[in-house]
Amino acid sequence: MNQAAANIGVVGLAVMGSNLARNLASREGNTVAVYNRSREKTDQLVAEHPEAGFLPAFDYAEFAATLSKPRTAIIMVKAGRGTDAVIDELVKVFEPGDIIVDGGNAYFPDTIRREKAVRETGINFVGAGISGGEEGALNGPSIMPGGSDESWVTLGPILKSIAAVAPDGEPCVTHVGHDGAGHFVKMVHNGIEYADMQLIAEAYDLIRRGTGKTPAEIADIFAAWNTGELESYLIEITAEVLRQVDAETGKPLVDVILDQAGAKGTGAWTVQTALALGVPVSGIAEATFARSLSSHPEQRAVASALPGPAEPFEVADADAFIADVAQALFASKIIAYSQGFDEIRAGAAEYGWTIDLGAVSKIWREGCIIRAQFLNRIADAYAGEPDLPVLATAPYFAEALTRGQAAWRRVVVAATVAGIPSPAFSSSLAYYDGLRADRLPAALVQGQRDFFGAHTYKRIDKEGTFHTLWSGDRSEIEAEDTH
Ligand code: 6PG
Repeated sequence: MNQAAANIGVVGLAVMGSNLARNLASREGNTVAVYNRSREKTDQLVAEHPEAGFLPAFDYAEFAATLSKPRTAIIMVKAGRGTDAVIDELVKVFEPGDIIVDGGNAYFPDTIRREKAVRETGINFVGAGISGGEEGALNGPSIMPGGSDESWVTLGPILKSIAAVAPDGEPCVTHVGHDGAGHFVKMVHNGIEYADMQLIAEAYDLIRRGTGKTPAEIADIFAAWNTGELESYLIEITAEVLRQVDAETGKPLVDVILDQAGAKGTGAWTVQTALALGVPVSGIAEATFARSLSSHPEQRAVASALPGPAEPFEVADADAFIADVAQALFASKIIAYSQGFDEIRAGAAEYGWTIDLGAVSKIWREGCIIRAQFLNRIADAYAGEPDLPVLATAPYFAEALTRGQAAWRRVVVAATVAGIPSPAFSSSLAYYDGLRADRLPAALVQGQRDFFGAHTYKRIDKEGTFHTLWSGDRSEIEAEDTH
């Protein structure tokens, strides 16, 4: 049996787990214990990476014995029941003060439940969102840990040692908040990721169909955008995806890929949670629904007989249109992030977390899928006004929206007239207009509610709760206690 010589352990050695273990092992001061349910993966990892100096364990007791105290283990298994099974085993061999970290994409209510249950044993449980895919896990992800302050003391330096590093030298990890806060923030990160990806996809579709440019030509446009305010990892990889040619057919790969987008659930969780919190994340919702719509070929096949506009879509001035699309993309992106940060704020209030929104934006600057220098602007906004009610109204974003709104409207009009679906562009614009409206037709909705259900309403000119007797003498009564 191994001596207690590892300061950190990894359970689950599929690609993400192996890469994270290698990342940990490559940092000064870390010795990494590794364990996997099937022995082959452990043997393979240890054999392929002798430089890592892994300490392999082949059962949980040996794994625990290999770790120095407080024992710290990161679980990297597919989120779900497997996570509970590993936690149960670790709890049997760990002691009070030890730390179990779940690095998977767990649903935050599960993390809250697990943290509560594990805490009873005196062991710390930390749900940590880890973003950046396989490459990030290996070279530096963005990490969003929740859990107790006690666990952060041990875990903080270890996670800082493996996280991505922002241009100003700050590691992309922060103690987000207690219990499920880390997985909550990772969930919203993924929701924003969905919105960002859908917006980029809509921009591509509009340019392609409006100007007739080829995917390779559009790749050049995205590459150029990547040098300006739209600079981001997702824009960068979009250019690469569009440039890719299918070796078998010689066609652009994007034309060979089936147009049905998959989803593993984090986008849907973001939307479900936002609905429960009453936070309009319409851009994220439309992005999630757009994937759902794409994945119903049976409906699409029959609906393809429905008519679209009679006129073909051809823009008069391609360069001007592309410039408009860039503005629309940036404006819609601001809305998506603004909505996502709203959800984090509302989640923190609901679950009693203290979450520093500026710190969250900073740890997303590198390592994660939505990484971009744009995140610096969000950090600036919260530094300027920590209680900012709506991110989109911060000076930098307000200026960008003011500058971009005319182009944004032109693009949404063009898409609508041309019959090109742009749900994320148009819903973001509708949200923007709703948010800035002096007066909304919500007043009429309140009237309707009161009419059919005596749900009451408030008035603009006096305090109180009112109900109108809609039939009969139609007089208004004050109904303070009516529900
Ligand atoms: C990340 C990604 C990662 C993963 C998503 C993809 O931050 O590294 O978000 O978590 O790529 O799970 O989700 P979908 O399969 O739902 O698109």
